[in-house]
Amino acid sequence: MRVPRAKSQATVKLKDLPQGVVKLEAYDDGVDDAPRYPTVVQGHRNNVQKFKNCVVLTRVGGFYELYFEQAEEFAPLLSLKLASKKTSAGPVPMAGFPFFQLDRFLKILVQDLNKYVAISEEFAIGAEDKARSGGLMFDRRVARIVTPGTLIDEKFIDPSENNFLLAIYLDIPALKAESKENVDPQSSQHVLASVPQRVGLAWLDLSTGDFFTQLTTAQMLPSAIVRIGAREILVDQNVQDIIGQELQQLVGHEHRLVTFFRYPEIFSPMSEWDSMLEAPIPEETHASFTTEEVAAGYSLLEYIRVQLQGSNLKLQPPRRRHLDESMSIDRNSLRGLEILETSRDGFGKGSLLHAVRRTSTKSGARLLRDRLSKLSKVGTTSLSLDTNLSHEASPSTSLMAINERLDLVSIFIENENLRDNVIQLLKRSYDSQRLVQKFAMGKGDPDDLICLSRAIEASQGVKQVLSEHERLSTSGATSGARRSLLSMISRLSLEGPVVLANKISSAIDEEGVLQQQRIQDSTAAEAVSLAQEVAINEGTSSELESLPKKVRTKASDKAAADPEAGEFETWIMRRNASENLNALHTELEDLLNEKIMLIKKLRDYVGSSALNLKWTPGLGHICHVKGPKISQQSLEELGVTRNVSSTKSTRSFYLPAWTELGNKMDHVKIQIRQEEQAIFENLRREVILNLVKIRRNAAVMDELDVACSFATLAQEQKMVRPILNEGTMHKIAGGRHATVKLGLEEQGRSFVSNDCFLGDQERIWLITGPNMAGKSTFLRQNALITILAQVGSYVPAAYAEIGIVDQIFSRIGAADDLFRDQSTFMVEMLETAAILKQATPRSFVIMDEVGRGTTPEDGTAVSFACLHHLHYHNQCRTLFATHFHGLADMTQNFEHLERYCTDVKETGRGSFSFVHRLRKGVNRDSHALKVAQLAGLPRETIELATSVRDELRNKKNTQ
Ligand SMILES: Nc1ncnc2c1ncn2[C@@H]1O[C@H](COP(=O)(O)OP(=O)(O)OP(=O)(O)O)[C@@H](O)[C@H]1O
Ligand SMILES: [Mg+2]
Repeated sequence: MRVPRAKSQATVKLKDLPQGVVKLEAYDDGVDDAPRYPTVVQGHRNNVQKFKNCVVLTRVGGFYELYFEQAEEFAPLLSLKLASKKTSAGPVPMAGFPFFQLDRFLKILVQDLNKYVAISEEFAIGAEDKARSGGLMFDRRVARIVTPGTLIDEKFIDPSENNFLLAIYLDIPALKAESKENVDPQSSQHVLASVPQRVGLAWLDLSTGDFFTQLTTAQMLPSAIVRIGAREILVDQNVQDIIGQELQQLVGHEHRLVTFFRYPEIFSPMSEWDSMLEAPIPEETHASFTTEEVAAGYSLLEYIRVQLQGSNLKLQPPRRRHLDESMSIDRNSLRGLEILETSRDGFGKGSLLHAVRRTSTKSGARLLRDRLSKLSKVGTTSLSLDTNLSHEASPSTSLMAINERLDLVSIFIENENLRDNVIQLLKRSYDSQRLVQKFAMGKGDPDDLICLSRAIEASQGVKQVLSEHERLSTSGATSGARRSLLSMISRLSLEGPVVLANKISSAIDEEGVLQQQRIQDSTAAEAVSLAQEVAINEGTSSELESLPKKVRTKASDKAAADPEAGEFETWIMRRNASENLNALHTELEDLLNEKIMLIKKLRDYVGSSALNLKWTPGLGHICHVKGPKISQQSLEELGVTRNVSSTKSTRSFYLPAWTELGNKMDHVKIQIRQEEQAIFENLRREVILNLVKIRRNAAVMDELDVACSFATLAQEQKMVRPILNEGTMHKIAGGRHATVKLGLEEQGRSFVSNDCFLGDQERIWLITGPNMAGKSTFLRQNALITILAQVGSYVPAAYAEIGIVDQIFSRIGAADDLFRDQSTFMVEMLETAAILKQATPRSFVIMDEVGRGTTPEDGTAVSFACLHHLHYHNQCRTLFATHFHGLADMTQNFEHLERYCTDVKETGRGSFSFVHRLRKGVNRDSHALKVAQLAGLPRETIELATSVRDELRNKKNTQ
């Protein structure tokens, strides 16, 4: 970890730290006679000292600059040219990029390199302070620290995933005591697994305002971490010694960042969190949060406060996620079953999520991801008392909730028209979760307002479409389907939001906004060309080269093409957005008319239409004449006071009448801008007033998106609706593996479907068979079908009846053995231990080749003992694939275990094919040499292997 540890044990309250994650150390000012660096460079140096763990970017005019060691370190990583700045204190390495590329470089630094970045911005210094600062124009100070978990509206945030920051709270004294007592130094890597501790979790997404807490246990922590998938994980600096390494290992391979941060000594109660929330946490729910969750939540808020350096914040009130109600898929299954990403490359393609995702919006994709990573479980407790919980946050704990989701999917399957309409509207809605959060954080612009009003209109449209459908379809739909449709309709609350949307669209002039964006683009271009000039004069060539060519020319093009620039004003609000605004526009029009009259009068007077009234940034209001000579006398008669410039063919001069009129116009324009700003602020306030409703509507839209997505998928893949019950059986006929099937079909091969009947009679299926014959595929496909069913999707099978599973466990793997710094067999045993300890009679377990990582005797022994434990103790539904066919004989008297196998079909003359269909029985031949041959082992090697194998067999038979 890059954050240095505290030097002493003395704790400092976070509030006492002015800035930064790290305890501040007094900066040695180095008051000596040595030549000093220029102020900017020195300021940068101070910041690097102060924000020890951060990469510091210092704004200098149109650039963000890195100096010294950080320039040397990061220039190559950012593909920037390393230059050297001459200063009186010697050359200083530097590298920089134009300000408008900040997002691009933040992405590399924060997202790809997992760095913390402190951005030091320029603030103009007022006239009176200027003298004190020695005539400097700008003050620079770190305005924000950007870390992977604290992104707000950066363009590179993955829109289809939440960007979570997670705080973990552990009771340190207890942890210390436990780890001394229970853990021998040999296995100090596994403190968490061996300590029975309550752990508080709190996580939030700054870009959407989502805020959750959960109570978990040390043992469940690893799976919670994977499930939440936070980009950055906060841990108290004081536990670094105890579990730092273990955590690091846990998250290291997921490319997540662990930040050790000194947690506050005292945790403020939830009643004092209001200033950072959009609405207070209902008092009656305070008691439902545990101390550990409050501690985690408060530490999280403290961290945010530091990172945002005092920016405004409006999060949603925290919502509890209950451990016992939404049962998560354990960490190994999430990875091994490739639910969110493939284990091979960690990318999405090939994963279950990728294979089933047909969502139309990014936020719908986020919801789908969230659902797939947690599994519903039959629960007895109900969440309905927690009124502050939105529907989605009380995860479907029951059959009813799952069925409600399935009902909704069925409506969209049966009514393609309805689905198409809803999808059309969904596509027109913007990511309102992220939009409203921008406003809540004091950001956002008129364009965002327009998008928001579109999103609101879309949800209005959806409500209409659904209501219409409901009204017309009196027959056909089951009562369940009707109920879930009605619930969607009633949850869309539109009164406030629609009024807001109307206000927005009647106030904001879209054309104007568009126009203004164009102007802003070209202003940015101008800023660049200015920066370019500076670079040419005193900078280095690297700065110049880092400017995009396009911008370089665009700036000059614009100047050439638009000589009248400055004449035209664009307004972002319609003039009737307020009475005041209307009056101001009228005033401005009058003044413009006056100007036209004045021009006419002047032209008549001098007898030339080549006279114009202008404004230029350098000269102000001037009168400009082209071409024919105008006598000095006639000008003086007009009241000309002073000539400004003249060339052979043109002349410019000041004219008091125009100066006065021009100033009046300027004044009115400023007033209009102010009025527009005021209207904008009003709208922003209204957005915030409607925050909760808009977010709830967005949640409904997301649910509809997921339902439509499942409907599309079901139709496309010919899936069936699973029948869920509270029993402990699996009756899957004609099951298929969603992703393997796709892969095979791409190669023009077909997939053989298989049944899986697990239950009271046959609780364990022991599966043997040749290599490559589909054992692993079969195991996974049934786990995936179970997961899909319980998230409310149709499943790839001809028929599926599933007793709801409380937890899914899997011990599978190959590629997954490499990810931790542990031996293959160790990983296998760790995972197996977790399963044997945790699986209940309602669980579903798949185990693939347990014991493979060691000698055949030991492997067989361990496998047998595991089967024994699963059969007699856990009593869970289990699919167990193995090459130790001895197990088939050893488990003869296991009442609830049945043996199944796959085959190889030999078709004479050495050729063969795999029979992927399972049948009852045991297959004692691995046909490994056939696979080896297929894989292209040299012929001699195959021949040698064959003769050795025959010899071994003979020996065995004669023994
Ligand atoms: N039901 C099926 N229908 C068609 N092809 C299948 C089926 N199941 C598996 N396959 C194909 O066979 C390949 C190997 O399958 P799988 O890895 O499940 O075999 P296995 O029995 O676990 O082998 P091993 O013992 O070597 O682990 C798959 O990648 C897939 O291409
Ligand atoms: Mg296998």
